Amino acid sequence: MTSVPSVTVSLVDRSYEISIRAGLFERLGREMNRYGLKGKVGIVTDRHVARHYLKTIVETAKRSGLEPVPIILAPGERSKTLQTVEHILNVLARHRFERSSHLLALGGGVVGDLAGFAASIYQRGIPYIQVPTTLVAQVDSSVGGKTGVDHRLGKNLIGSFYQPRAVWIDPLTLQTLPAREWVAGLAEVIKYGIIADTSFFAYLQRKMPALQQQSPQVVASIVKRSCEIKAEVVAADERESDRRRILNYGHTIGHALEALGGYKSLVHGEAVGIGLVQEADLACFQGICTHEVVEAIRCLVNEAGLSDRMPATTPTKIWKAMLHDKKVSAGQVIGVWPTRIGEVCMAPLSKEVFDRWYAASRAALIST
Ligand SMILES: NC(=O)c1ccc[n+]([C@@H]2O[C@H](COP(=O)([O-])OP(=O)(O)OC[C@H]3O[C@@H](n4cnc5c(N)ncnc54)[C@H](O)[C@@H]3O)[C@@H](O)[C@H]2O)c1
Ligand SMILES: [Zn+2]
Repeated sequence: MTSVPSVTVSLVDRSYEISIRAGLFERLGREMNRYGLKGKVGIVTDRHVARHYLKTIVETAKRSGLEPVPIILAPGERSKTLQTVEHILNVLARHRFERSSHLLALGGGVVGDLAGFAASIYQRGIPYIQVPTTLVAQVDSSVGGKTGVDHRLGKNLIGSFYQPRAVWIDPLTLQTLPAREWVAGLAEVIKYGIIADTSFFAYLQRKMPALQQQSPQVVASIVKRSCEIKAEVVAADERESDRRRILNYGHTIGHALEALGGYKSLVHGEAVGIGLVQEADLACFQGICTHEVVEAIRCLVNEAGLSDRMPATTPTKIWKAMLHDKKVSAGQVIGVWPTRIGEVCMAPLSKEVFDRWYAASRAALIST
């Protein structure tokens, strides 16, 4: 068993541990007892994940003297709605869940965001534990306490900050993940190197071939380092007033592209991969970083199996989509820009600069 020590998210009275261990699923009973779970435990998951892991968790919970109540949702972003939350709440109410009953969020970011939000409002808040099974969820969405659902007028428009009691990560669960979802998650991992850790970026450059083979040691170590960086940023700024915004690097353009594709043509990480490169290029255009920085990012993104190319669209459409995002403050797009690998700064972006960059980058593309 590959064992990696756990990471702590330090938030005074709401601090929690992220346990990362290949094979953790085999010993979840021990974790359930360690955390004092009792009585009913709601296991929120989706159909894909249920097929692989629900039976193990249900049996483990029963062996630990618990009463598991599976809540199986339809997979995918389209489930991330208030109606689904209502469904979860109905099940909890029907089974007479109490204040001390726990929810387990077993799945990707969709399940984690839904279960976390339901936990935050059922009886004004019951404890929940994240058991993430996608790379995006293991390195990003399960840590930090952002929960919520989409609204017809915007993604993640409704939600709450509500920290889990613990995060239990078994990197071996990634072995059943579809290849496209695995590669998409690598965009978030690369992001951590760019925003906070030069040597982690260099490690990813060296280990990309091993990562493509999903070497368990390398996978466990990138999940751990990503969680450490996210935990550090969240501990410094839980509610995204300032420092936490650095996590949005690659997401300004990324979210806009996701929205323009109707959340169908690109999965989140694919859009972020393009965003990482294009936002670096935009930083270079503004004189914030060198061309070498852009090329290093482009190269790693491509080696991960991700595209760096903007889909066919217009600058006006992208700008409008960027203005719809939550990263906008007083009508201004606040960008996160790499100054070098391992360091970013924040600065507003004007439409005029964006348009000039877009025209220049299209011209460069046509001439190559
Ligand atoms: N709360 C946060 O801080 C935060 C951060 C990043 C992303 N998010 C949210 O996360 C969501 C994206 O999460 P995601 O990329 O994990 O997508 P997802 O939850 O839709 O999972 C992707 C697909 O993989 C399947 N799957 C999950 N684990 C599997 C496994 N081990 N084996 C086989 N199939 C598996 C799922 O059923 C689904 O079809 C978005 O809604 C995004 O807004 C939230
Ligand atoms: Zn993301």
